[in-house]
Amino acid sequence: MAAFDFIKDKLAAQKAGTLYRQRNCIEAIDGSQIKVDGKWYLNFSGNDYLGLSQTSALKQAMQEGVDRFGACSTGSSLLTGYHYAHQALENTLCQWLNKPHCILFASGFGANHGVLQALGQKDSYLWLDKLSHASLIDGALDSQAQVKRFLHNNGEQLQKFLSKNPSADQLVVSEGVFSMDGDSANLSELAVICQQHQAWLYLDDAHSIGVIGEQGQGSSSQIKPDIVMATFGKAIATSGAFVACDKGVFDYLTNFSRHYIYSTAISPALAWATKASIEMIQREQWRRDKIVELSALFKKQLSDEVTILPTESSIHALIIGDEEKTMAIAEQLKNRGIWLSAIRPPTVPKGTSRLRVTVCAHHSANDINILAKNINEVLINAR
Ligand SMILES: Cc1ncc(COP(=O)(O)O)c(C=O)c1O
Repeated sequence: MAAFDFIKDKLAAQKAGTLYRQRNCIEAIDGSQIKVDGKWYLNFSGNDYLGLSQTSALKQAMQEGVDRFGACSTGSSLLTGYHYAHQALENTLCQWLNKPHCILFASGFGANHGVLQALGQKDSYLWLDKLSHASLIDGALDSQAQVKRFLHNNGEQLQKFLSKNPSADQLVVSEGVFSMDGDSANLSELAVICQQHQAWLYLDDAHSIGVIGEQGQGSSSQIKPDIVMATFGKAIATSGAFVACDKGVFDYLTNFSRHYIYSTAISPALAWATKASIEMIQREQWRRDKIVELSALFKKQLSDEVTILPTESSIHALIIGDEEKTMAIAEQLKNRGIWLSAIRPPTVPKGTSRLRVTVCAHHSANDINILAKNINEVLINAR
């Protein structure tokens, strides 16, 4: 009898290709340090860009949310899962992003998947940047639309694709800041192209919400995308996600997005804490300034022999290339007390394995100096 032999085979191939993945349990957190297997490390792998996750204000808001609304939403938003805390959070998001409507999802993956699957109808086209997140790709492929990826940040190719189907419904999909390279989309160009071709623009702002914009509204503040999505799980430092849009799309998703309809709404306590986090993000500009300051320090302290991708975000990628070498370098840094996860295919294209550094507002200048010194020593020795 067949016994799912592919499981064994696939795992063996994963190990042979230095692609095997496993979890590490974070036993404790203290500021920028994490404890794993009894040892403390300086952490440069988290997405808590603004350093809000461990603040007493956010912890208190979560506590207040539990006290006022309870721990669980008790159902899908269309049954008994939509509470006052969710409504208050949606209102805050609408005001912050200057959008008329907003809808909450249990995760960013679910939001992207749920929206693209619902919008991608037969005879429509979804055009995704080549470096789009897995959730965008899966949502698009699981829809009925024609799906194609354009070369990363290549407006010229996108124009050509769009011009072939002038009368079809067309949705252009991009991230504001790309998750694994940290570079930004050319948003003004994308906006003009979409307008010329009467296509809609869908912006996944997961890595710029909180970090970019005068009040941290993200890169969507530079233009007016038709639909903006972002997760709460990075700079906002809770979890879940939102999609901001017009009334038509809001009503459509409420009626047709399977992820929305058939999934338990996020906990109202979490929604309450998320609202408090967004209020802090609006007020506390110093957190964004600190990321800019520390990122500049990091670049300055790196040896000329170490190259990183140019970015204006919290994300700085050191491309190593080979999976095995990347893992070995990450291990050496770990031995020196630096936690920097290796990012390998299929998360990034083959031959571009990398160390992805995230510079966050809870880091100190000393943390950054230690990081740069150790990267310089380990990378130059590895040559
Ligand atoms: C660009 C992008 N979109 C969506 C997601 C998914 O968000 P979540 O972690 O809330 O599922 C992520 C997170 O990894 C991401 O990097």
